[in-house]
Amino acid sequence: MKFFIDTANLDQISKAAGYGILDGVTTNPSLIAKEGIIEQSEHIKAICAITPTPVSAEVLATETDSMIDEGKRLAALAPNVVVKIPLTMSGLQATKELSSQGIRVNVTLVFSAIQALLAAKAGAAYVSPFVGRLDDTGLDGLTVVEDILNIFGNYDFETEVIVASIRHCQHVHRAALLGADICTIPFAVIQQLSGHPLTDKGLAAFLADHAKVAAH
Ligand code: G3P
Repeated sequence: MKFFIDTANLDQISKAAGYGILDGVTTNPSLIAKEGIIEQSEHIKAICAITPTPVSAEVLATETDSMIDEGKRLAALAPNVVVKIPLTMSGLQATKELSSQGIRVNVTLVFSAIQALLAAKAGAAYVSPFVGRLDDTGLDGLTVVEDILNIFGNYDFETEVIVASIRHCQHVHRAALLGADICTIPFAVIQQLSGHPLTDKGLAAFLADHAKVAAH
């Protein structure tokens, strides 16, 4: 399973790249706004300078033609930019057109397996179901991911599934068990993934035992 980081923070992206486990970056307008950025082009270029992995940059346009124009502008910023498009009928039309021109599209704001099927049929390279936000409504977001993976397998779609809106380590664990292609994970959760109290306790004991002998 590939690990993407879900942030627009340059420091977090640099640190995650340094860990040696970074396979991509996803941003969205809220994450860009959190960095105090109004016009995202220069910031997306800065992210692409940190990592050659796929970097999703989302359009703000909502009509098909303007989504296509904005998508082309974003894709021209760097070879690793993936254009992120929301799942609306206009978004599907834009996805079809951009994909047919060889531009990779990540269809976002997906909350059902049928929405994901529509995105795959439109030629999306990636589809992003939001598991945390589904959990918030009382559903189990990862059952939607399971359905998407089963449907894509039935028809041999090449669209990769990005499990998004990850809130905790259990989401990552279950996504991997399901065979999801990618998890896009906030920095705080990436840091939590390596932690285990028995690892800390065991390391402290190893070092203490060594220190006892070394002191003699
Ligand atoms: O980037 C899309 C998605 O991961 C957003 O997550 O935490 O805002 O639901 P969240």
